Amino acid sequence: MAFEELKRKQSAMWGSAPFERVADRLLGDIHDDLVSRLVPLEGAVLADVACGTGGIAERAAARGARVTGCDFAPALIETARGRAAERGLDIEYDVADAEALPYEDGSFDVVTSAVGHMFAPDQPRAAAELARICKPGGRLGLVCWAQEGGVADMFRMLAEFQPPPPEGVGSPLAWGARDYQQQLLGDAFELEFEEGNSPDEQESSEEMWTLMTTSFGPMKTLYASLEGERRDQFRSRVLEFFESHRDGDTIRQPREYLLTIGTRR
Ligand SMILES: C[S@@+](CC[C@H](N)C(=O)[O-])C[C@H]1O[C@@H](n2cnc3c(N)ncnc32)[C@H](O)[C@@H]1O
Repeated sequence: MAFEELKRKQSAMWGSAPFERVADRLLGDIHDDLVSRLVPLEGAVLADVACGTGGIAERAAARGARVTGCDFAPALIETARGRAAERGLDIEYDVADAEALPYEDGSFDVVTSAVGHMFAPDQPRAAAELARICKPGGRLGLVCWAQEGGVADMFRMLAEFQPPPPEGVGSPLAWGARDYQQQLLGDAFELEFEEGNSPDEQESSEEMWTLMTTSFGPMKTLYASLEGERRDQFRSRVLEFFESHRDGDTIRQPREYLLTIGTRR
């Protein structure tokens, strides 16, 4: 199924904010976790799909991999290129859709995606692309938000303020189930799963609100789309959500994820 118009909007949405602030602040431990499962990477040809501003690509390149990162948001790719230059890392970055990757079959030793490919609307197609570009015997490394937990609750809370997705669009959280991943990827890969948690700790819910509405494209775009009372309701609802995770002086929001390691058959 083609979702070209939807993906154009999504690309603008993800690129509308400096995502690197969210990635550096909230995803570093997940990037470390995934990359550490894939070592040694010296000399490996690695693709990071839906790479955002380059958290996985930078870590893999620092460990000696020959890295290509791709994402459909041009603004994020531009940031990723600037970061690689600043860090003296040789990383190839492309603007590309996870559902139609511009790479030859079997051209990578390692294929990764950290909470990235899971947002592509045509999930069977995104899964098929991960498999297609991975060479036989190559490895797959994925991180997906869990179906239940802190991030899932946050997505459900945001959905109360969003229009329903077009028919046929896969829920990103579906990727958080082992069975579903087996269904989409099990023919192509031998899969192993592990659960992880990356709790977010903040001093205040206001701090979290500011970070998310200035630097997380989906939330920035959603807030900007609301007017009047609905806008105020959204702000109160989000602050209430963060506050519900208060533990003494700290907001501690659990963020459970499913980590997948695969070997291409
Ligand atoms: C939560 S961010 C994660 C970014 C990065 N993987 C990281 O861990 O920092 C999700 C990313 O997926 C990208 N994305 C979503 N749908 C995509 C698609 N169909 N094709 C390519 N990139 C996509 C977004 O642009 C965004 O950069």
